[in-house]
Amino acid sequence: MPVIVLCSTKGGVGKSTTALLLAQVYAEAGSQVTLIDADPNQPLATWASRFTKSVPERLEIIGGVTEETVVEVIDDAAERKPFVIVDLEGSANVTASYAISRADLVLIPMRGKQLDVDQAARVVSLIERESKVFRRQIPYRVMFSMIGMLQSREQKHIRATLDGKGIPVLDTALFERAAFSAIFQIGGTIFDLTAEDVSNPKAAQENATAVAQSVIAALNEETTR
Ligand SMILES: Nc1ncnc2c1ncn2[C@@H]1O[C@H](COP(=O)(O)OP(=O)(O)O)[C@@H](O)[C@H]1O
Ligand SMILES: [Mg+2]
Repeated sequence: MPVIVLCSTKGGVGKSTTALLLAQVYAEAGSQVTLIDADPNQPLATWASRFTKSVPERLEIIGGVTEETVVEVIDDAAERKPFVIVDLEGSANVTASYAISRADLVLIPMRGKQLDVDQAARVVSLIERESKVFRRQIPYRVMFSMIGMLQSREQKHIRATLDGKGIPVLDTALFERAAFSAIFQIGGTIFDLTAEDVSNPKAAQENATAVAQSVIAALNEETTR
């Protein structure tokens, strides 16, 4: 417990990156974490197998998870581990529906682009439908991933649109930073990166940590609701 699910109807919005960063921050803080890779492309399982030696001990990665096994794998991990994070393919498929049904929080990443608003709204309506099916309000947050540090006019507009629709947004955004893509190329965690690898690794660590803390705050808000 808890189960955090990353979901979007399209690829390339930062699901796998966010999933891996959250897992790394919680593991770095001393928690046991299971990261479930339910994307057939296996980006996180590939990261783990390519850089076996630099995977933190507290971070367990389960790959090869499919529509047939996803619920069982999540339930089993949730019994064993304080944090379970599920990464999905960018598609509203059956695997995504099953994972959402088990979520304590669904995170819907979007870049600060108008096109991503429709994508996020589709995930929200999928979650709302599932909430009806299961007679349980499944908690969710849209989160900005991969955005520039200065808030653009487009982002402000998107934020207002989401507020207008009553769609909750995670308090902290994940900025676009070289450190967040570097971990996929050189392995290890953002806490292993040095100034030789990327510029200002500390800023990236702080940003990822702040996002991870906001996720915990959202989980707490939902359990006390
Ligand atoms: N915050 C970020 N900063 C820099 N690069 C990012 C960030 N988020 C994602 N990327 C890059 O964007 C691409 C898509 O991200 P990914 O996490 O794989 O998206 P998804 O899982 O939604 O398909 C990858 O090349 C990844 O390295
Ligand atoms: Mg992905």
